[in-house]
Amino acid sequence: MEIVILPTAAEVGRAAAAKIAHRIARHPETVLGLATGSSPLAIYAELAARREAGLDVGRVSGFALDEYVGLPTSHPQSYASVIRTTVTEPLGLDPARVHVPDGLADDIEAACAAYEAAIADAGGVDVQILGIGANGHIGFNEPTSSFQSRTRIKTLAPRTRQDNARFFDSLDEVPTHCVTQGLGTILEARELLLVAQGEAKADAVAAAVEGPFASVVPASVLQWHRSATVILDEAAASKLRLAEYYRYTYEHKPPFQRWD
Ligand code: F6R
Repeated sequence: MEIVILPTAAEVGRAAAAKIAHRIARHPETVLGLATGSSPLAIYAELAARREAGLDVGRVSGFALDEYVGLPTSHPQSYASVIRTTVTEPLGLDPARVHVPDGLADDIEAACAAYEAAIADAGGVDVQILGIGANGHIGFNEPTSSFQSRTRIKTLAPRTRQDNARFFDSLDEVPTHCVTQGLGTILEARELLLVAQGEAKADAVAAAVEGPFASVVPASVLQWHRSATVILDEAAASKLRLAEYYRYTYEHKPPFQRWD
């Protein structure tokens, strides 16, 4: 795992976007795995700015990580809406190339299987963008999710519902269930790119990066991936025991490996 610690949240977004843009420039048909929530917003804003400056994203496609169950796609907090307003429209992506799990299907299991098939048909995800929940979840794979899990329905942890209540008028409005790519699905992406900002994420980041590989911290699955990058601001990195080593490694990164 590569751990990059940067002074500010804004720099986290810029660096993550630089890494993605570096890949898109070399592979215009890049398939992005798209997280929602606050963490990746600066990445999407920076990618939109780079597109304005000439980055060709015309052949990029995307697969969202998750969706609430039972929320109409027209609801502003459905991830279909959030992905459209924060990714598809600002980046000018072809909507037909941007996919979000179906949280309204009568047959959720069949819809989940179809989502897995669509990812496979697209050739798999090249770069999976991830945030991390304060309880260590990625996607909506809550603690004790199987490391082999696939796209499926999950019950949101009470902590997750509370954390996400800020996007809704009240806690009662936050759905209790979601559809999420599984940890096994996420592991199949060619690269994982997790970003975290702020002190509220520091414990989860430390557990995921330096704690045991354990499903009680779903993000610890990154330790099993061959190409995982974690980009943090100082606050999110504040509980890492080996922070000085990560800084040293980044400063001494060979030029041919750099993407910034
Ligand atoms: C949402 C997702 C979640 C969030 C996590 C952090 O698609 O995948 O794992 O990344 O809950 O949310 P924020 O970024 O809002 O703190």
